Amino acid sequence: MNVLMTDQQPQHAVLAADPDWWRGAVIYQIYPRSFQDSNNDGIGDLSGIIHRLGHIADLGVDAIWISPFFKSPMKDFGYDVSDYRDVDPMFGSLGDFDALIERAHELGIKVLIDLVLSHTSDEHPWFKDSRDNHDGARRDWYVWADAKPDGTPPNNWLSIFGGSAWEWDGGRMQYYLHNFLTSQPDLNLHSPDVQDALLDVVRFWLNRGVDGFRLDTINFYFHDDKLRDNPALPPEDRNDTIAPSVNPYNWQDHLHDKNRPENLAFLKRFRAVLDEFPAATSVGEVGDAQRGLEIQAEYTSGGDKVHMCYDFAFLSNAYPTGTRVANVLEKFERVASDGWACWAYSNHDVVRHTSRWNLSDPAQRAYAALLMAMRGSVCLYQGEELGLTEAYVPFEELQDPYGIRFWPKFKGRDGCRTPIPWVQDNRNGGFSGGKPWLPMAMEHLEKAVAKQEQEPEGMLAFYRAMIAFRATQPALSKGTLQVAAHDDNSITLIRTHDDTRVLCALNLSDDAIPLMIPEGDWTTCTDAPFSADTTDTHLAPWQALFATAPA
Ligand code: BGC
Repeated sequence: MNVLMTDQQPQHAVLAADPDWWRGAVIYQIYPRSFQDSNNDGIGDLSGIIHRLGHIADLGVDAIWISPFFKSPMKDFGYDVSDYRDVDPMFGSLGDFDALIERAHELGIKVLIDLVLSHTSDEHPWFKDSRDNHDGARRDWYVWADAKPDGTPPNNWLSIFGGSAWEWDGGRMQYYLHNFLTSQPDLNLHSPDVQDALLDVVRFWLNRGVDGFRLDTINFYFHDDKLRDNPALPPEDRNDTIAPSVNPYNWQDHLHDKNRPENLAFLKRFRAVLDEFPAATSVGEVGDAQRGLEIQAEYTSGGDKVHMCYDFAFLSNAYPTGTRVANVLEKFERVASDGWACWAYSNHDVVRHTSRWNLSDPAQRAYAALLMAMRGSVCLYQGEELGLTEAYVPFEELQDPYGIRFWPKFKGRDGCRTPIPWVQDNRNGGFSGGKPWLPMAMEHLEKAVAKQEQEPEGMLAFYRAMIAFRATQPALSKGTLQVAAHDDNSITLIRTHDDTRVLCALNLSDDAIPLMIPEGDWTTCTDAPFSADTTDTHLAPWQALFATAPA
Protein backbone atom coordinates (compact mmCIF):
# COMPACT_ATOMS: atom_id res chain seq x y z
CA MET A 1 0.00 0.00 0.00
CA ASN A 2 1.24 3.45 -0.85
CA VAL A 3 0.85 5.78 2.13
CA LEU A 4 0.65 8.85 -0.09
CA MET A 5 -2.73 10.49 -0.05
CA THR A 6 -3.01 13.58 -2.13
CA ASP A 7 -5.76 15.67 -0.62
CA GLN A 8 -5.69 14.47 2.96
CA GLN A 9 -3.11 13.77 5.60
CA PRO A 10 -1.48 10.37 5.73
CA GLN A 11 -3.37 7.98 7.90
CA HIS A 12 -0.57 7.44 10.39
CA ALA A 13 -0.31 11.18 11.03
CA VAL A 14 -3.99 11.41 11.77
CA LEU A 15 -3.74 8.42 14.06
CA ALA A 16 -0.54 9.54 15.75
CA ALA A 17 -1.29 9.17 19.41
CA ASP A 18 1.13 11.59 21.01
CA PRO A 19 2.07 14.79 19.19
CA ASP A 20 4.83 15.16 21.76
CA TRP A 21 6.40 11.76 21.01
CA TRP A 22 9.66 13.43 20.00
CA ARG A 23 10.35 14.78 23.50
CA GLY A 24 12.90 12.41 24.88
CA ALA A 25 12.78 10.16 21.82
CA VAL A 26 15.75 8.00 20.91
CA ILE A 27 16.51 8.55 17.23
CA TYR A 28 18.76 6.21 15.25
CA GLN A 29 20.70 7.82 12.42
CA ILE A 30 21.10 5.80 9.24
CA TYR A 31 23.79 6.77 6.74
CA PRO A 32 22.20 4.92 3.84
CA ARG A 33 25.34 4.43 1.72
CA SER A 34 26.84 2.29 4.48
CA PHE A 35 23.92 0.56 6.16
CA GLN A 36 22.91 -2.36 3.92
CA ASP A 37 23.33 -2.91 0.20
CA SER A 38 20.57 -4.96 -1.45
CA ASN A 39 21.73 -4.99 -5.10
CA ASN A 40 25.45 -5.66 -4.70
CA ASP A 41 26.65 -2.39 -6.19
CA GLY A 42 28.65 -1.76 -3.03
CA ILE A 43 26.41 1.10 -1.90
CA GLY A 44 23.68 0.78 0.70
CA ASP A 45 20.11 1.51 -0.38
CA LEU A 46 16.51 1.90 0.78
CA SER A 47 15.63 -1.76 0.25
CA GLY A 48 18.64 -2.61 2.40
CA ILE A 49 17.27 -0.39 5.16
CA ILE A 50 13.89 -2.14 4.95
CA HIS A 51 15.66 -5.48 5.25
CA ARG A 52 17.38 -4.35 8.46
CA LEU A 53 14.51 -2.52 10.15
CA GLY A 54 14.13 -5.48 12.52
CA HIS A 55 17.53 -4.67 14.03
CA ILE A 56 16.38 -1.12 14.68
CA ALA A 57 13.06 -2.22 16.13
CA ASP A 58 14.88 -4.65 18.44
CA LEU A 59 17.04 -1.79 19.65
CA GLY A 60 13.87 -0.13 20.90
CA VAL A 61 14.38 3.31 19.37
CA ASP A 62 11.48 5.60 18.57
CA ALA A 63 12.56 6.91 15.19
CA ILE A 64 15.11 6.79 12.43
CA TRP A 65 16.75 9.74 10.72
CA ILE A 66 17.92 8.80 7.24
CA SER A 67 20.75 10.90 5.80
CA PRO A 68 19.96 12.25 2.28
CA PHE A 69 18.89 9.77 -0.40
CA PHE A 70 17.67 12.38 -2.92
CA LYS A 71 18.96 12.71 -6.48
CA SER A 72 22.46 14.04 -6.28
CA PRO A 73 25.77 14.05 -8.13
CA MET A 74 27.14 12.81 -4.76
CA LYS A 75 30.03 15.26 -4.55
CA ASP A 76 29.16 15.53 -0.83
CA PHE A 77 27.47 12.12 -0.77
CA GLY A 78 23.91 13.34 -0.97
CA TYR A 79 24.24 16.64 0.89
CA ASP A 80 24.32 18.18 -2.59
CA VAL A 81 20.77 17.69 -3.82
CA SER A 82 19.86 18.05 -7.49
CA ASP A 83 16.20 17.02 -7.10
CA TYR A 84 14.48 17.34 -3.73
CA ARG A 85 11.49 15.29 -4.81
CA ASP A 86 13.07 12.11 -6.05
CA VAL A 87 15.22 9.27 -4.80
CA ASP A 88 18.63 8.85 -6.36
CA PRO A 89 18.59 5.64 -8.44
CA MET A 90 21.58 4.33 -6.48
CA PHE A 91 19.33 4.26 -3.40
CA GLY A 92 16.17 3.00 -5.13
CA SER A 93 12.91 4.69 -6.02
CA LEU A 94 10.06 6.64 -4.50
CA GLY A 95 8.18 3.33 -4.35
CA ASP A 96 10.97 1.89 -2.20
CA PHE A 97 10.72 4.90 0.06
CA ASP A 98 6.96 4.42 0.44
CA ALA A 99 7.58 0.77 1.31
CA LEU A 100 10.19 1.82 3.86
CA ILE A 101 7.80 4.18 5.59
CA GLU A 102 5.07 1.59 5.62
CA ARG A 103 7.28 -1.11 7.13
CA ALA A 104 8.83 1.27 9.68
CA HIS A 105 5.37 2.38 10.82
CA GLU A 106 4.24 -1.22 11.13
CA LEU A 107 7.18 -1.71 13.50
CA GLY A 108 6.30 1.44 15.45
CA ILE A 109 9.30 3.39 14.15
CA LYS A 110 8.86 7.01 13.01
CA VAL A 111 10.80 8.22 9.99
CA LEU A 112 12.69 11.50 9.79
CA ILE A 113 14.41 12.51 6.59
CA ASP A 114 17.33 14.87 6.15
CA LEU A 115 16.45 18.08 4.33
CA VAL A 116 19.32 20.15 3.01
CA LEU A 117 17.65 23.51 2.50
CA SER A 118 20.61 25.83 2.86
CA HIS A 119 22.20 24.88 -0.44
CA THR A 120 21.66 22.69 -3.49
CA SER A 121 23.96 20.96 -5.92
CA ASP A 122 25.25 23.10 -8.77
CA GLU A 123 23.44 20.55 -10.94
CA HIS A 124 20.06 21.51 -9.52
CA PRO A 125 17.94 23.07 -12.29
CA TRP A 126 17.33 26.09 -10.02
CA PHE A 127 21.05 26.86 -9.94
CA LYS A 128 21.53 26.33 -13.66
CA ASP A 129 18.62 28.68 -14.33
CA SER A 130 19.90 31.27 -11.86
CA ARG A 131 23.40 31.11 -13.35
CA ASP A 132 22.40 31.13 -17.00
CA ASN A 133 19.40 33.47 -17.07
CA HIS A 134 20.65 36.76 -15.69
CA ASP A 135 17.23 38.34 -16.10
CA GLY A 136 15.19 35.24 -15.26
CA ALA A 137 12.79 34.74 -12.38
CA ARG A 138 15.42 32.78 -10.46
CA ARG A 139 18.28 35.25 -10.92
CA ASP A 140 18.44 35.95 -7.17
CA TRP A 141 17.68 32.41 -5.93
CA TYR A 142 21.36 32.02 -5.01
CA VAL A 143 23.76 34.48 -3.41
CA TRP A 144 25.42 36.33 -6.27
CA ALA A 145 27.75 39.26 -5.68
CA ASP A 146 30.13 41.42 -7.67
CA ALA A 147 33.86 41.21 -7.26
CA LYS A 148 35.70 43.95 -5.43
CA PRO A 149 37.35 46.45 -7.80
CA ASP A 150 40.55 44.40 -7.59
CA GLY A 151 38.67 41.29 -8.69
CA THR A 152 38.84 39.52 -5.35
CA PRO A 153 35.77 38.06 -3.58
CA PRO A 154 33.21 40.41 -2.01
CA ASN A 155 34.26 39.70 1.58
CA ASN A 156 36.31 37.50 3.90
CA TRP A 157 33.82 34.64 4.34
CA LEU A 158 35.37 31.17 4.29
CA SER A 159 34.14 27.74 3.30
CA ILE A 160 34.01 24.97 5.92
CA PHE A 161 35.64 22.71 3.35
CA GLY A 162 38.54 25.14 2.85
CA GLY A 163 39.33 28.36 1.00
CA SER A 164 37.09 31.30 0.20
CA ALA A 165 33.32 30.84 0.43
CA TRP A 166 33.04 32.55 -2.96
CA GLU A 167 33.44 30.97 -6.37
CA TRP A 168 33.76 32.96 -9.57
CA ASP A 169 31.33 32.36 -12.41
CA GLY A 170 32.62 33.63 -15.73
CA GLY A 171 29.16 33.49 -17.34
CA ARG A 172 27.46 35.82 -14.89
CA MET A 173 30.73 37.61 -14.17
CA GLN A 174 29.91 37.40 -10.49
CA TYR A 175 30.84 35.37 -7.47
CA TYR A 176 28.40 32.96 -5.81
CA LEU A 177 28.44 31.93 -2.16
CA HIS A 178 29.09 28.36 -1.03
CA ASN A 179 29.64 27.52 2.64
CA PHE A 180 30.75 24.02 1.72
CA LEU A 181 32.00 22.71 -1.67
CA THR A 182 32.03 24.98 -4.71
CA SER A 183 29.45 22.53 -6.10
CA GLN A 184 27.08 23.37 -3.21
CA PRO A 185 25.89 26.91 -4.02
CA ASP A 186 24.06 28.62 -1.17
CA LEU A 187 20.35 29.32 -1.67
CA ASN A 188 19.26 32.90 -1.03
CA LEU A 189 16.55 32.57 1.60
CA HIS A 190 16.06 36.34 1.61
CA SER A 191 13.96 35.65 -1.49
CA PRO A 192 10.34 34.83 -0.59
CA ASP A 193 10.14 32.70 -3.74
CA VAL A 194 13.00 30.52 -2.52
CA GLN A 195 11.30 30.14 0.85
CA ASP A 196 8.04 29.13 -0.85
CA ALA A 197 9.80 26.60 -3.06
CA LEU A 198 11.53 25.03 -0.04
CA LEU A 199 8.32 24.90 1.98
CA ASP A 200 6.69 23.10 -0.93
CA VAL A 201 9.42 20.48 -0.64
CA VAL A 202 8.61 20.15 3.07
CA ARG A 203 4.92 19.63 2.24
CA PHE A 204 5.77 17.10 -0.47
CA TRP A 205 7.50 14.79 2.01
CA LEU A 206 4.95 15.30 4.80
CA ASN A 207 2.24 14.32 2.36
CA ARG A 208 4.27 11.27 1.51
CA GLY A 209 4.09 10.18 5.14
CA VAL A 210 7.33 11.23 6.83
CA ASP A 211 7.15 12.03 10.52
CA GLY A 212 9.58 14.90 10.38
CA PHE A 213 12.93 16.22 9.38
CA ARG A 214 16.52 16.56 10.39
CA LEU A 215 17.38 19.98 8.99
CA ASP A 216 20.93 20.24 7.73
CA THR A 217 22.96 23.33 8.75
CA ILE A 218 19.87 25.19 9.95
CA ASN A 219 21.82 28.24 11.13
CA PHE A 220 23.35 28.71 7.68
CA TYR A 221 20.01 29.51 6.00
CA PHE A 222 20.57 33.27 5.90
CA HIS A 223 23.57 35.46 5.19
CA ASP A 224 23.99 39.17 5.90
CA ASP A 225 22.60 40.92 2.85
CA LYS A 226 25.10 43.74 3.33
CA LEU A 227 27.84 41.11 3.00
CA ARG A 228 29.84 42.48 5.94
CA ASP A 229 33.16 40.87 6.80
CA ASN A 230 33.22 38.51 9.78
CA PRO A 231 35.43 39.82 12.59
CA ALA A 232 38.56 37.87 13.52
CA LEU A 233 38.51 35.86 16.74
CA PRO A 234 41.31 36.28 19.26
CA PRO A 235 43.51 33.17 18.87
CA GLU A 236 42.57 31.91 22.34
CA ASP A 237 38.90 31.79 21.33
CA ARG A 238 39.38 29.66 18.22
CA ASN A 239 38.01 26.19 18.62
CA ASP A 240 37.49 23.35 16.26
CA THR A 241 34.09 21.95 17.11
CA ILE A 242 32.83 22.65 13.60
CA ALA A 243 35.77 22.49 11.25
CA PRO A 244 39.05 20.80 12.03
CA SER A 245 41.86 22.93 13.34
CA VAL A 246 43.68 22.75 9.99
CA ASN A 247 41.08 25.18 8.66
CA PRO A 248 41.16 28.94 9.33
CA TYR A 249 37.35 28.90 9.23
CA ASN A 250 37.68 28.74 13.01
CA TRP A 251 39.57 32.01 13.15
CA GLN A 252 36.44 34.07 12.46
CA ASP A 253 33.45 35.01 14.55
CA HIS A 254 30.64 33.92 12.23
CA LEU A 255 28.33 36.86 12.76
CA HIS A 256 27.50 37.57 9.17
CA ASP A 257 27.79 34.45 7.02
CA LYS A 258 25.38 32.51 9.30
CA ASN A 259 23.46 32.81 12.60
CA ARG A 260 21.41 35.69 11.16
CA PRO A 261 18.30 36.93 13.02
CA GLU A 262 16.26 36.81 9.78
CA ASN A 263 16.23 33.03 10.18
CA LEU A 264 13.69 33.14 13.01
CA ALA A 265 10.88 34.37 10.75
CA PHE A 266 11.60 31.63 8.23
CA LEU A 267 11.68 28.97 10.93
CA LYS A 268 8.24 30.17 12.02
CA ARG A 269 6.96 29.73 8.48
CA PHE A 270 8.50 26.26 8.42
CA ARG A 271 6.84 25.37 11.74
CA ALA A 272 3.46 26.54 10.52
CA VAL A 273 3.68 24.00 7.70
CA LEU A 274 4.72 21.26 10.11
CA ASP A 275 1.87 22.09 12.45
CA GLU A 276 -0.58 21.16 9.69
CA PHE A 277 0.60 17.60 10.44
CA PRO A 278 -0.17 16.86 14.09
CA ALA A 279 2.78 14.69 15.08
CA ALA A 280 5.44 15.92 12.70
CA THR A 281 8.71 17.01 14.25
CA SER A 282 12.01 18.63 13.33
CA VAL A 283 15.55 18.64 14.59
CA GLY A 284 17.87 21.35 13.34
CA GLU A 285 21.62 20.93 13.14
CA VAL A 286 23.33 23.95 14.67
CA GLY A 287 27.00 24.19 13.84
CA ASP A 288 28.63 27.07 15.62
CA ALA A 289 31.73 26.87 17.76
CA GLN A 290 31.03 30.14 19.58
CA ARG A 291 27.36 30.18 20.52
CA GLY A 292 25.80 26.82 19.65
CA LEU A 293 23.75 26.47 22.83
CA GLU A 294 22.39 30.02 22.63
CA ILE A 295 21.31 29.43 19.04
CA GLN A 296 19.66 26.14 20.03
CA ALA A 297 17.77 28.10 22.68
CA GLU A 298 16.61 30.71 20.18
CA TYR A 299 15.47 28.14 17.62
CA THR A 300 13.65 25.77 19.99
CA SER A 301 12.03 28.11 22.50
CA GLY A 302 8.46 29.33 22.25
CA GLY A 303 7.11 26.26 20.45
CA ASP A 304 6.88 28.14 17.16
CA LYS A 305 10.13 27.31 15.41
CA VAL A 306 11.89 23.95 15.30
CA HIS A 307 11.09 21.32 17.91
CA MET A 308 14.67 20.33 18.70
CA CYS A 309 18.19 21.27 17.77
CA TYR A 310 21.40 19.48 18.13
CA ASP A 311 24.75 21.09 18.26
CA PHE A 312 28.31 19.94 18.54
CA ALA A 313 28.77 20.15 22.34
CA PHE A 314 29.44 16.40 22.54
CA LEU A 315 30.54 15.90 18.97
CA SER A 316 33.80 17.73 19.58
CA ASN A 317 37.20 16.47 20.60
CA ALA A 318 36.89 17.97 24.09
CA TYR A 319 36.87 15.04 26.51
CA PRO A 320 33.53 14.91 28.36
CA THR A 321 34.67 14.96 31.96
CA GLY A 322 31.90 15.13 34.54
CA THR A 323 32.63 18.84 34.87
CA ARG A 324 32.41 19.51 31.16
CA VAL A 325 29.14 17.60 30.78
CA ALA A 326 27.71 19.38 33.81
CA ASN A 327 28.72 22.76 32.38
CA VAL A 328 27.05 22.05 29.05
CA LEU A 329 23.84 20.71 30.63
CA GLU A 330 23.62 23.54 33.16
CA LYS A 331 24.26 26.15 30.52
CA PHE A 332 21.51 24.64 28.38
CA GLU A 333 19.12 24.84 31.36
CA ARG A 334 20.11 28.47 31.89
CA VAL A 335 19.77 29.64 28.30
CA ALA A 336 17.02 27.31 27.06
CA SER A 337 14.80 26.26 29.91
CA ASP A 338 11.83 25.88 27.55
CA GLY A 339 13.96 24.68 24.64
CA TRP A 340 14.68 21.11 23.63
CA ALA A 341 18.02 19.60 22.77
CA CYS A 342 18.86 16.45 20.93
CA TRP A 343 22.18 15.14 22.20
CA ALA A 344 24.59 13.07 20.17
CA TYR A 345 28.11 11.75 20.60
CA SER A 346 28.65 10.48 17.07
CA ASN A 347 27.39 11.06 13.56
CA HIS A 348 28.53 10.80 9.95
CA ASP A 349 30.68 13.95 10.22
CA VAL A 350 32.89 13.28 13.21
CA VAL A 351 35.33 10.64 14.42
CA ARG A 352 33.37 7.91 16.23
CA HIS A 353 33.30 8.90 19.88
CA THR A 354 34.72 5.58 21.07
CA SER A 355 37.97 6.51 19.30
CA ARG A 356 37.67 10.27 19.66
CA TRP A 357 37.59 9.97 23.43
CA ASN A 358 39.55 6.70 23.52
CA LEU A 359 36.88 4.92 25.57
CA SER A 360 37.25 1.42 26.97
CA ASP A 361 34.26 -0.91 26.78
CA PRO A 362 33.06 -0.03 30.33
CA ALA A 363 33.59 3.67 29.62
CA GLN A 364 31.42 3.43 26.50
CA ARG A 365 28.65 1.94 28.59
CA ALA A 366 28.89 4.62 31.25
CA TYR A 367 28.76 7.38 28.64
CA ALA A 368 25.81 5.70 26.91
CA ALA A 369 23.99 5.64 30.26
CA LEU A 370 24.82 9.32 30.73
CA LEU A 371 23.45 10.16 27.27
CA MET A 372 20.20 8.40 28.17
CA ALA A 373 19.97 10.45 31.36
CA MET A 374 20.34 13.92 29.81
CA ARG A 375 17.30 16.16 29.40
CA GLY A 376 16.48 16.05 25.73
CA SER A 377 16.20 13.61 22.90
CA VAL A 378 19.04 11.38 21.78
CA CYS A 379 20.57 10.63 18.40
CA LEU A 380 22.50 7.39 18.07
CA TYR A 381 24.63 6.92 14.98
CA GLN A 382 24.54 3.56 13.21
CA GLY A 383 27.17 1.26 14.68
CA GLU A 384 27.31 3.13 17.98
CA GLU A 385 25.17 0.36 19.48
CA LEU A 386 27.85 -2.13 18.41
CA GLY A 387 30.68 -0.15 19.98
CA LEU A 388 32.34 0.51 16.63
CA THR A 389 35.60 2.43 16.60
CA GLU A 390 36.79 4.84 13.91
CA ALA A 391 38.06 2.90 10.89
CA TYR A 392 41.33 3.75 9.18
CA VAL A 393 40.81 4.48 5.50
CA PRO A 394 44.03 4.83 3.50
CA PHE A 395 44.42 7.88 1.27
CA GLU A 396 44.00 5.79 -1.93
CA GLU A 397 40.53 4.72 -0.78
CA LEU A 398 39.42 8.07 0.58
CA GLN A 399 36.10 9.38 -0.76
CA ASP A 400 35.39 12.46 1.33
CA PRO A 401 36.52 15.65 -0.45
CA TYR A 402 36.99 17.30 2.95
CA GLY A 403 39.53 14.66 3.95
CA ILE A 404 41.23 14.63 0.57
CA ARG A 405 41.76 18.38 0.85
CA PHE A 406 43.26 18.36 4.36
CA TRP A 407 45.04 14.97 4.37
CA PRO A 408 47.04 13.90 6.34
CA LYS A 409 46.48 16.34 9.22
CA PHE A 410 42.75 15.79 8.96
CA LYS A 411 41.62 12.51 7.48
CA GLY A 412 38.06 13.52 6.72
CA ARG A 413 34.84 11.73 7.53
CA ASP A 414 35.25 8.36 5.85
CA GLY A 415 36.46 6.60 9.01
CA CYS A 416 33.00 6.89 10.59
CA ARG A 417 31.19 6.05 7.34
CA THR A 418 32.50 2.54 6.66
CA PRO A 419 29.90 -0.22 6.23
CA ILE A 420 28.00 -1.76 9.13
CA PRO A 421 29.16 -5.31 9.97
CA TRP A 422 26.10 -7.56 10.03
CA VAL A 423 27.80 -10.95 10.10
CA GLN A 424 31.28 -11.92 11.15
CA ASP A 425 32.20 -14.69 8.72
CA ASN A 426 32.08 -12.68 5.53
CA ARG A 427 34.73 -10.31 4.17
CA ASN A 428 32.20 -7.54 3.67
CA GLY A 429 30.41 -8.28 6.90
CA GLY A 430 27.22 -9.11 5.01
CA PHE A 431 26.94 -5.46 3.97
CA SER A 432 27.26 -6.12 0.24
CA GLY A 433 28.03 -8.88 -2.23
CA GLY A 434 29.97 -6.31 -4.26
CA LYS A 435 32.99 -4.17 -3.41
CA PRO A 436 31.84 -1.73 -0.71
CA TRP A 437 32.25 1.96 -1.58
CA LEU A 438 34.40 2.25 1.55
CA PRO A 439 36.27 -0.77 2.86
CA MET A 440 34.80 -2.87 5.65
CA ALA A 441 36.99 -2.37 8.71
CA MET A 442 38.28 -5.85 9.53
CA GLU A 443 38.39 -5.05 13.25
CA HIS A 444 34.64 -4.32 13.09
CA LEU A 445 33.80 -7.90 12.10
CA GLU A 446 34.15 -9.19 15.63
CA LYS A 447 31.48 -6.67 16.63
CA ALA A 448 29.04 -7.82 13.94
CA VAL A 449 25.35 -7.74 14.79
CA ALA A 450 24.84 -11.50 14.36
CA LYS A 451 27.75 -12.21 16.70
CA GLN A 452 26.53 -9.78 19.34
CA GLU A 453 23.05 -11.33 19.14
CA GLN A 454 24.69 -14.29 20.92
CA GLU A 455 26.35 -12.15 23.60
CA PRO A 456 24.04 -11.30 26.51
CA GLU A 457 26.80 -9.18 28.05
CA GLY A 458 27.80 -7.49 24.78
CA MET A 459 27.52 -3.84 23.79
CA LEU A 460 24.40 -4.38 21.68
CA ALA A 461 22.61 -6.08 24.57
CA PHE A 462 23.67 -3.20 26.79
CA TYR A 463 22.25 -0.54 24.45
CA ARG A 464 18.99 -2.49 24.15
CA ALA A 465 18.71 -2.75 27.92
CA MET A 466 19.60 0.90 28.46
CA ILE A 467 17.05 2.12 25.89
CA ALA A 468 14.41 -0.20 27.36
CA PHE A 469 15.14 1.10 30.85
CA ARG A 470 14.86 4.71 29.69
CA ALA A 471 11.48 3.89 28.18
CA THR A 472 10.19 2.71 31.57
CA GLN A 473 11.05 6.01 33.28
CA PRO A 474 9.18 9.03 31.88
CA ALA A 475 11.40 11.21 34.09
CA LEU A 476 14.39 10.21 31.95
CA SER A 477 12.73 11.12 28.67
CA LYS A 478 10.57 14.06 29.70
CA GLY A 479 11.57 15.20 33.17
CA THR A 480 13.32 18.32 34.40
CA LEU A 481 17.04 18.12 35.08
CA GLN A 482 19.17 19.06 38.03
CA VAL A 483 22.91 18.47 38.20
CA ALA A 484 23.16 17.35 41.83
CA ALA A 485 26.94 16.93 41.91
CA HIS A 486 29.91 16.67 39.62
CA ASP A 487 33.65 16.66 39.40
CA ASP A 488 35.95 15.58 36.60
CA ASN A 489 35.44 11.90 37.40
CA SER A 490 31.76 11.73 38.20
CA ILE A 491 28.37 13.28 37.67
CA THR A 492 25.05 12.91 39.44
CA LEU A 493 21.83 13.97 37.74
CA ILE A 494 18.30 14.10 39.11
CA ARG A 495 15.43 13.98 36.64
CA THR A 496 11.94 14.77 37.89
CA HIS A 497 8.58 14.13 36.25
CA ASP A 498 5.15 14.26 37.90
CA ASP A 499 5.64 12.57 41.27
CA THR A 500 8.86 10.68 40.53
CA ARG A 501 12.52 11.57 40.80
CA VAL A 502 15.14 9.48 39.05
CA LEU A 503 18.71 9.60 40.24
CA CYS A 504 21.57 8.82 37.92
CA ALA A 505 24.99 8.77 39.57
CA LEU A 506 27.90 7.87 37.32
CA ASN A 507 31.50 7.03 37.96
CA LEU A 508 33.40 8.30 34.93
CA SER A 509 36.77 6.93 35.97
CA ASP A 510 38.93 3.82 36.23
CA ASP A 511 38.88 3.96 40.04
CA ALA A 512 36.20 3.15 42.57
CA ILE A 513 34.71 6.32 44.08
CA PRO A 514 32.57 6.90 47.18
CA LEU A 515 28.85 6.81 46.37
CA MET A 516 27.23 10.03 47.53
CA ILE A 517 23.46 9.86 47.38
CA PRO A 518 21.44 13.08 47.62
CA GLU A 519 18.83 13.27 50.34
CA GLY A 520 15.67 11.28 49.63
CA ASP A 521 13.97 7.93 49.98
CA TRP A 522 15.76 6.27 47.07
CA THR A 523 15.00 2.79 45.75
CA THR A 524 17.44 1.11 43.38
CA CYS A 525 16.12 0.53 39.85
CA THR A 526 16.83 -3.17 39.58
CA ASP A 527 15.93 -3.19 35.89
CA ALA A 528 18.65 -0.67 35.02
CA PRO A 529 21.64 -2.38 33.46
CA PHE A 530 24.83 -2.29 35.52
CA SER A 531 23.29 -0.32 38.35
CA ALA A 532 24.89 -0.29 41.78
CA ASP A 533 22.64 -0.48 44.86
CA THR A 534 21.64 2.42 47.08
CA THR A 535 23.16 0.51 50.01
CA ASP A 536 26.59 0.41 48.35
CA THR A 537 29.30 2.65 49.71
CA HIS A 538 31.21 2.93 46.44
CA LEU A 539 30.64 3.00 42.72
CA ALA A 540 32.94 0.59 40.91
CA PRO A 541 34.95 2.00 37.96
CA TRP A 542 32.53 3.24 35.28
CA GLN A 543 29.52 2.03 37.26
CA ALA A 544 26.18 3.80 37.52
CA LEU A 545 23.48 3.95 40.11
CA PHE A 546 19.91 4.46 38.98
CA ALA A 547 17.32 4.91 41.71
CA THR A 548 13.87 6.45 42.10
CA ALA A 549 12.26 8.44 44.89
CA PRO A 550 8.96 10.27 45.31
CA ALA A 551 9.22 13.87 44.14
C1 BGC B 1 26.19 17.55 7.03
C2 BGC B 1 27.46 17.23 6.32
C3 BGC B 1 27.48 18.02 5.04
C4 BGC B 1 27.24 19.51 5.29
C5 BGC B 1 26.89 20.23 4.05
C6 BGC B 1 26.41 18.99 7.37
O1 BGC B 1 26.46 19.46 8.52
O2 BGC B 1 25.94 16.79 8.18
O3 BGC B 1 27.63 15.87 6.09
O4 BGC B 1 28.72 17.86 4.42
O5 BGC B 1 26.20 19.73 6.19
O6 BGC B 1 25.61 19.90 3.65
